[in-house]
Parts: sequence; structure tokens; C-alpha cells
Amino acid sequence: MKLRDATTADAARLDTLLTRLIHDEVQYDSNLNGSYVVTDNYRDRIGLEGHKLLLIEDGGEIVAFLYGFLYEIPGMLAKPIAILDALYVEKEHRRKGYASQLISAFKPFAEENGACRIELKVLSCNEAALRLYEKLSFKETKKYMTMDLQAQ
Ligand SMILES: CC(C)(COP(=O)(O)OP(=O)(O)OC[C@H]1O[C@@H](n2cnc3c(N)ncnc32)[C@H](O)[C@@H]1OP(=O)(O)O)[C@@H](O)C(=O)NCCC(=O)NCCS
Repeated sequence: MKLRDATTADAARLDTLLTRLIHDEVQYDSNLNGSYVVTDNYRDRIGLEGHKLLLIEDGGEIVAFLYGFLYEIPGMLAKPIAILDALYVEKEHRRKGYASQLISAFKPFAEENGACRIELKVLSCNEAALRLYEKLSFKETKKYMTMDLQAQ
């Protein structure tokens, strides 16, 4: 197992894993298109200041990734907030601590860039992710509420 920063050579594989993350979330969100394929989402953000793309290789293959970035509103926010935007581990590599290790590696990026906290959104029915974040001492501080509307 090897945890490292992504390089532009990894961009296509990261798009594939983000595609799988979206497909995985279809079980929780009927508004997601289960045939959507991500292309060129991460290439421009790899190595870009304020953005962090971390990945885990296992057996020479990238099997997990995390993408996060700094959210800043100068003048309004005293300190930036580190947003954990995407986290995905391939099915056959789950429960090996990979997501936990990716989050541990994201934390110093957030701290070194002066962030006051890490924030993320998680679907209330995503039990695996909720258990992961609870185990890592994330606390619920906001509720993200929705109201379904009838299609016209
Ligand atoms: C959620 C996800 C990222 C967890 O990745 P992972 O590498 O398996 O997580 P870890 O091995 O670091 O798990 C750490 C702890 O989280 C909890 N956990 C993780 N998956 C769990 C599950 N399916 N059920 C219950 N608890 C779980 C456990 O407490 C686990 O510790 P343990 O294995 O010692 O019991 C992975 O299941 C995944 O990629 N899911 C699909 C995408 C997704 O939901 N991403 C998050 C969107 S917010």
C-alpha cells in the first residue's frame, strides 16, 4: 500500500473512481444519473494551490482517493475551511483503513493552510460513511435539508 499525492498522470483514473463514487451514490439519491461518466474533472486541480488530491495504490493500482480544497471568503471568514469534497475506496479494498488514512493525510494539509476545521456533507442514509466519520471524531454541526418537488 502506498499513499501519495496525485500527479497529472493519475487524472483519468481519478475520473474513473469519481464516476464509481457517483454510481455508488445512486442508491441514496434518485436524482443522480447512474450512467454518467466523469471526464477531465480533476486534471486542472492536481497540484493547484488550495486543492489536495490524495490517493492510495495497492498492488500497483489506484484503489482509493480523496479530494479536498480550501474554502475562503476574505473579510467574512476569519480562517479558511477545508472542504472534504470526495472520498472513495474500491469495494474490494474497504475496511482496510484506507479512507481513515486518506483523511489523516488531508488533516495536515488543512492545518498547514490555516484552516479552522474540516467540513463535509454526507447523506443521512450512508451508514458506512457516517460510521467512518464518527469513528474519526467528526461531529454533526449542521443539517442539510431537502424538500422533494413534484416533476412538472
Ligand atoms: C465510506 C468509505 C469511504 C469507507 O472507506 P473504508 O476504507 O472502508 O473505511 P475504513 O476502512 O477507513 O473504515 C474505518 C472505520 O469506519 C467504519 N466503517 C467503514 N465502513 C463501514 C461499514 N460499511 N459499516 C460500518 N462501519 C464502517 C468502521 O468503524 C471502520 O473501522 P473498522 O473497520 O475497524 O470497524 C467506503 O465505504 C466507500 O468508498 N464508500 C462509497 C463512497 C462513499 O460513500 N464515500 C463517502 C461519501 S460522503
